[in-house]
Amino acid sequence: MEQNFPGGKILRLKVGDITREPADAIVNAANSALAGGGGVDGAIHRAGGPSIMRELDQIRGKSGGCPTGSAVVTAAGLLPARFVFHAVGPVYRGGKHGEPELLASCYRTCLQLAEEQGIATIAFPSISTGIYGYPIREAARIALAEVTRHLNAQAGMLQQVTFVLFSEPDYRVYASCLEREPA
Ligand code: APR
Repeated sequence: MEQNFPGGKILRLKVGDITREPADAIVNAANSALAGGGGVDGAIHRAGGPSIMRELDQIRGKSGGCPTGSAVVTAAGLLPARFVFHAVGPVYRGGKHGEPELLASCYRTCLQLAEEQGIATIAFPSISTGIYGYPIREAARIALAEVTRHLNAQAGMLQQVTFVLFSEPDYRVYASCLEREPA
């Protein structure tokens, strides 16, 4: 599914494995220790090779990690991308502990990093909706709202944002959110 925005910008939804998605930047659903893990984080480190963790070790050495709601940048190793943005989503604890704002902040930070790097394409997974337990319908609404707001703004180099959803049911949730609240 695709949606068009001013200036020829595009939002795409697809089912797939984000480690196989060609994009200038792919986004990882990381933890604040930047320590690697399962889910998409494990897949990115397996496919990207050890250079990504070596770079994260240096970042951790300097800054201690990455706060929830933010993201750090590394190169992409063997992945078909230039950068990985390691975004730290919130653990879902009922929704009244600032989770919506922290999740929105992840997407905003990555979109801002994309503009700072001057890149044209970025691919996101569904941050926080796996191990971190965020209900996917609420998470999809937040993710799509942040991305559509960014693509509707006239400024910016970013041309294409792709959500790579890992299952058909996840894809259908994102697609129904986008159909209900189109740009
Ligand atoms: N491509 C795209 N999406 C994927 C992939 C993949 N290769 N592998 C998993 N996913 C999906 C999951 O199905 C889920 O919908 O990514 C979404 C996010 O799930 P998680 O990877 O579990 O991320 P999150 O819920 O944010 O939890 C982060 O998990 O792996 C650890 O180190 C990570 O501690 C952190 C936590």
